[in-house]
Amino acid sequence: MPILRPEIAALAPYEVGRPIEEVVREHGVDPADVVRLTANESPEGPFPGVIDAAVDALALSNRYPDNDSLELTGALAAELGIARSNLMMGNGSVSLLAEMTAAVGGPGTNVVYAWPSFVMYRFAAIWAGSTVREIPLDAGHAHDLEAMGESIDETTRVVFVCNPNNPTGTITDADMIEDFINSVPAGVLVVVDEAYHDFVSNPSYRTAIPLAVDLPNVVVLRTFSKIYALAAHRVGYAVGRSETLTDLRKIQTPLTVSRVAQAAALASLGQPDEVARRAARNAAGRRYLSAALDERGLGQVASETNFIYFATPGDDSRRVSDEFTRLGVIIRPMSRGWVRVSVGSEIDNKRFVDALDRVLETGSG
Ligand SMILES: Cc1ncc(COP(=O)(O)O)c(C=O)c1O
Repeated sequence: MPILRPEIAALAPYEVGRPIEEVVREHGVDPADVVRLTANESPEGPFPGVIDAAVDALALSNRYPDNDSLELTGALAAELGIARSNLMMGNGSVSLLAEMTAAVGGPGTNVVYAWPSFVMYRFAAIWAGSTVREIPLDAGHAHDLEAMGESIDETTRVVFVCNPNNPTGTITDADMIEDFINSVPAGVLVVVDEAYHDFVSNPSYRTAIPLAVDLPNVVVLRTFSKIYALAAHRVGYAVGRSETLTDLRKIQTPLTVSRVAQAAALASLGQPDEVARRAARNAAGRRYLSAALDERGLGQVASETNFIYFATPGDDSRRVSDEFTRLGVIIRPMSRGWVRVSVGSEIDNKRFVDALDRVLETGSG
């Protein structure tokens, strides 16, 4: 085995949400009884028409996919009201953020982001050979843009702003993001990650897409993994100035979005009523979970997403989430004293609340 770079050797592997099969094996529970509320996935399957389109795409499995995702980017650009050249597709938005960081970071540079936030920012920075500057969230578990701005220096190359933030579900005011972007040196790439933007209910929320289309050092990331329910297919995209994206493409693995993924994403578009229905269903589930946590006196952060960050009874997040797992409900341990539960189907959400009552009864933590 060739010798790893020391900073890569020191990394703990990325923890994906535990698969149902693993929980079945470990705890002997019936797979039909396991609910997975750990990865902020859609509890519903793909949009109408998507499975047929994906199956049709399989017929051309012997041919490489369209490297430019022409049909998909054409339809997506029309939906977003931007030009096709303002889009860069990727194998999930995680691959895009890693590629971007590798393109502009490297030894002697640093990457700034809030903490806790999406852990992939840390991986992307370390993979690139950069160091990390993790800036604590403010008292309301939201981005502290002032502190983030103060931590930027001449060796900063990338700043991530996760809006809404994973895992806390908070949003950052659009005017504050705009002021922040205007205050950042032109040589710093600002990546605004809007993976959860479709779930936001707060009317004050605004996307940063207009800024990304306008400014050469800003990109917005979006994904088909969340409201569009295509997590298995790995389709995400960046929005930015065409020159910026042309540069960033130099580091991208070619042919990275599969033919099936392109067909599935394309068939998902043009269905605004379905997006709205799913967002409303999510908001109802979020209210139900939030009320249940409130009634049981557990602290939580008001969420604009498809998950809720809440305080565990006791400080041991991992022990509490293991307790849930034993009851067939997979949730995600986060920082000390906090866990994250994804909004599921009505049945999933009820199962979570039942498990919560059992965990509280046994006085776990
Ligand atoms: C903030 C954030 N960005 C990006 C992603 C990943 O999206 P994708 O599935 O497109 O790689 C996630 C997934 O959980 C996320 O929480």
